[in-house]
Amino acid sequence: MEQKFFKVVANGKPRQAAVEKFKEYPEIDFVYWQGPGRMPPAYFEEQLAEADAVYSVGALRDPLGADFIEKAPHLKVLAQASVGYDNIDVAAFRAAGIPVGNTPGVLVDAVADLTYALILDCQRHLVAAAAHVKNGTWGQRKALGLGSDLAQKTLGIVGMGDIGSAVAKRAQASHMKVIYHNRHQRTDDEALGVRYVGFEELLSTADVIVVAVTLNPSTLGLFGHKEFARMKKGAAFVNISRGKVVDSAALYDALKSGHLSHAGLDVTDPEPLPGDHPLLTLDNITVTPHIASATTETRDAMALLTVANIMAGLKGQPLPAQIK
Ligand code: DGY
Repeated sequence: MEQKFFKVVANGKPRQAAVEKFKEYPEIDFVYWQGPGRMPPAYFEEQLAEADAVYSVGALRDPLGADFIEKAPHLKVLAQASVGYDNIDVAAFRAAGIPVGNTPGVLVDAVADLTYALILDCQRHLVAAAAHVKNGTWGQRKALGLGSDLAQKTLGIVGMGDIGSAVAKRAQASHMKVIYHNRHQRTDDEALGVRYVGFEELLSTADVIVVAVTLNPSTLGLFGHKEFARMKKGAAFVNISRGKVVDSAALYDALKSGHLSHAGLDVTDPEPLPGDHPLLTLDNITVTPHIASATTETRDAMALLTVANIMAGLKGQPLPAQIK
C-alpha cells in the first residue's frame, strides 16, 4: 500500500515560517527537537529512526554523514537551512541515493550587506568609534585616529560566486576597484566591471581582501602566515565564509604586528569564539557571531526553501536547490 504520511524531523528548533508551512500539508507529521533542557537528546534519535525527511536547522557543527544515514533507515531527503554544507558528507548521501538540499540565492543580499558593513568597519572603524562615544571619550577624538577611504581602493574578492558578485556591486557604489580570484574565471567580468587575477596578485595588490569561498579540502587553511605576509602592509581582511579557511593564529600575528590594519570576521575557528580567545584581545578586529544571513526576511526565505526542498524530495522530484 502506498505510504500516506511522511515524518519530517528537524534537528533543532526551526523558524516558525517552516512550522506554519508544513501545516499546509496534511500528509506531513513535522516534529523537532527543542534542544537540551527541553527534550532528552534521545528524542531526536528516536524520531530519526522513523524519519522520511530531515530538516537540518543549519547548526553547522552537526556532522551529517554515514553514521547519521544508518540511524535513519527510511530517509528520502535531507535539507539544510543554510547555503554552506561543509558539515554534510554529500558523497555518503549520494551513495545512499538520498538527495541533499541547501539554500543558495535567497541569502545573497543579506550576506553581501553584512560583508559590506565589515568592509566599511575595517576602513572607517564604526564599531570602535561608537564604543568611544559610549565610553564618554568623545572629547579625546585624536585617540581614535583616522579611517581610510574606500574610493579608489582595490577590493580583492576570493571566491566570486553569487555572494562575491553582490559584494562587488556594493563596493563599486563606494567607487572601489574590484579584482577577484576563483578556481575558474567567470564569463561576465566585463558586465560586472571586475578583473580576474591570480591568487598571488590578489594578495599583493588588494587593499581590502574579502573571503567568500566555500569550505572544502582545497580551501581549508587557505590563509596562513605565508598568505598574510604577501598582503600589502596595512591591508584589511574580511572573512564571511567559514572560520576554518583561515589559520586563526596566523591572523592574530598579522594583526598584532600591524601588518594588517584591521580584520572583520563573521566566521571564526572555533565557533562560537570563546570570550578569552587571543583574537579578541586585539583592538584592530571586529567579530560578529556568524550573523551574515540573520535577518527575519532572509531566515524565513531560507526556511521556506528548506521546506520546498523536502516536499520535492518526498515526491521523488528534483529539489529546487539540490547539492550536486
Ligand atoms: C550559511 O547559510 O551557510 C551561512 O553561513 C549561515 O549564516
